[in-house]
This record gives sequence, structure tokens and C-alpha cells, in this order.
Amino acid sequence: MKQLTKKFIIDLINAGLLGESRKVELAALSLARSFKKDQPDIFNDINQIVSSFIINGGANIRSVGESPIPIDHDSKLDMAFVNQPDLSSNPIPILTKQINDRIEDFLNERENINLLIEKNIRPSSSLLLTGLPGTGKTMLAKFIASSLNKNLITLDLSASISSLMGKTGANLKKVIEYAKNNSSVLLFDEFDAIAKKRDDNTDLGEIKRVVNILLMELEDWPISSLFIATSNHPELLDKAIWRRFDHSIEIPIPDQGTRLQILKKELGDFFDNTDLSLDILEPISSLHEGKSAADICKYANNVKRRNVLKNESLIFSLFEEIEGFREDKKLRAVFCITAKELLKDKITVRELSKITGLSISGVQHHLSKQ
Ligand SMILES: Nc1ncnc2c1ncn2[C@@H]1O[C@H](COP(=O)(O)OP(=O)(O)OP(=O)(O)O)[C@@H](O)[C@H]1O
Ligand SMILES: [Mg+2]
Repeated sequence: MKQLTKKFIIDLINAGLLGESRKVELAALSLARSFKKDQPDIFNDINQIVSSFIINGGANIRSVGESPIPIDHDSKLDMAFVNQPDLSSNPIPILTKQINDRIEDFLNERENINLLIEKNIRPSSSLLLTGLPGTGKTMLAKFIASSLNKNLITLDLSASISSLMGKTGANLKKVIEYAKNNSSVLLFDEFDAIAKKRDDNTDLGEIKRVVNILLMELEDWPISSLFIATSNHPELLDKAIWRRFDHSIEIPIPDQGTRLQILKKELGDFFDNTDLSLDILEPISSLHEGKSAADICKYANNVKRRNVLKNESLIFSLFEEIEGFREDKKLRAVFCITAKELLKDKITVRELSKITGLSISGVQHHLSKQ
């Protein structure tokens, strides 16, 4: 047996006994390569085992959830939540085509990891999601974990870091180890909580230690697990952190087309038993310019609630729930014009006046301008 092969077998045994999944992966891949030329069947078999472990979680997927979640020894509280993959409750957020393509590429890469492993190319295993609040970062992380059929281990820094001060570093390490060894997706939600704390002089030493731990763990991250961090204050993140992520995606606030898609998805069913055409959602989505996807979902829910409870015409609920409808004369003018265009004789000037609170002549004035 070749000297190098012997070394890789010993490395493999050591790493396996120590439970260090990243080292097991590396030793197994090196071992495979040492057989590539003379015994390609062994090369293929080992690569196959490693890729299938990475894609399916191997034996570990069964034990995930069964191994105990690390707890903080003082408070005795769990330091992370574990969610099982489930695509029906974690749908893909509605995003622009450009962002969708990037996510699809990322997922494709993870699903075809064997092609990279065969060629000794390290697959990506970390992703930074940035963007304003409510753009769908957390939702996307959940979707990615579910798509890859991996458990999502969430550590909410903003909730846990201050209570863990003093031993944050050790605690974080425990959660990271747990995620590394369980072939999962580890989510550091609101990652900037660390960076923000960095400005706080009292805890500077501690925070620096924490950041260093994170940087080191990212260098040594196993291919079988994924690390996702989200932040809505990317400017607060240390440049050293940015560099460590294989990919970083900025989720923008939705454009007109995306807003329309969200509204159609959220409200589409409500149009089934009405005379109203879905076309009305076009001007309504224009009126939501600058709003986040979460704001639009909230608006759609308010419309649905109001429509059911007040049993009123859908067009009225749609406009009444737009922020500032009662105060904004221009909005009410848009309402009159849109309603008349869509409903024609089914709505009278008198009714429009009643709905909007504008005078009859005011309504007539807006309609004539049209
Ligand atoms: N792009 C989207 N498509 C569809 N729904 C969305 C989208 N973005 C957000 N939502 C809705 O808004 C809710 C909140 O979004 P989410 O928590 O993912 O935002 P976030 O970017 O993580 O915000 P924060 O920065 O405040 O944590 C989601 O559960 C979902 O209902
Ligand atoms: Mg979030």
C-alpha cells in the first residue's frame, strides 16, 4: 500500500474517532484521490459515499433532532431551534428573476456536488443574505434548508448574545459544532448583532473573540453542512467577515412586477367570486412602491380580514387598507378612476363619493380628467 494512502487512512480513523466531520470529509476525499489512477472504482465509490452524505445527510439525517441541542449551562436554555425540512410550510419567497437565478445556481451546485468533488473543487458552503427588513431573508434561508432536505438550526443572535455575554464564544462554538456534525443548515439570523455590539466598548474584547471564532469556523466548515447568515445592516459587518462567505446575495425591496406577483399570490383566491378583475392589482401594486415584501403581505392580510369581517365589496377593502387612503386625496382620486375603469356602470358617481368621502362634483372632476 502506498505511503500516502496509509496516511489518509490513519487521518480518517483519527478524525472519525474525534467526531470531526470536516476532517473526515477531507481525509476521505484525499484517500479517494490516492486511488484515482490505479483503482478508479475505489475512487468512484468513495466519492459517491461522500457526495451522497453531503446531499442526503447520510446516516446523520436520521439522528438530527435526536442528538440533544446544546444548552447554556447557566440558564439551562436551548441555544438554538431546530426546524425539520418541509417545503409546504417553507415556500420560496417571491423575488426578481435575477435573484431567483442566483438561488437556483446555488441549489444546483449543492445538488451536483459530486461533479465538483470528483474534480477536487471545493463546493460552496456559506451564504450571506443582506437586505432591508422584511425582504424575505429568513424566509429564503428556511426555503434553502427545506430544498436541500436539511434541518435548519437557528441561532438568533439578537435574542441570545447579551444573555450569553461572558461566555458567548464558548456557547457559539457549541452550537457551531452541533451544526457541523449534523449535516444541517446553520442560520445566524440578524448576524449584525455581533458587529453592532462591537461598537460597545465594554464588551469589545469578548466580541472580538466571538468574531474570531466565527471566522475560524467558517474556514473549517464541512461541505456537508451549510452556513447562512442574514443581516439588514451589512455596513456594520467587518470586511473580514464578508470575505469568508462563498456567496453574498443582496435581497432588494420588490419592484413593480414582484409586488404584483406577491399580491396575486396573497389575494388571488379572493377574486374568485367577484366581478373584479385581477387587473386592479396593477395600480394597487404601484401604490406600494418602496414597500417591503413583508409590508405587502401584511396589507394583503388586512384586506382579507377586513373583507370577511365587514362583508363589503372587495374593491373597497383593497383601497381602504392602503396606508393613508383616508388622508390622501390623490389616492382617492386614483381609486375613483380605477374603480370606474374596471367596474364601468356597476358603480355610480354617488357610490364613489360615498366610499371616498369626496364630493360628487369632486368625483366628477376626477373622472372627467381621465
Ligand atoms: N420575497 C417575499 N416573498 C413573499 N413573501 C415574503 C417575501 N419577503 C417577506 N415575505 C413575507 O414577510 C414575512 C417576513 O419576512 P422575513 O422574516 O423573511 O424578512 P427578513 O428579510 O428576514 O426581515 P428582517 O430583516 O426584519 O429579519 C415572511 O414570513 C413572508 O410572509
Ligand atoms: Mg429575518
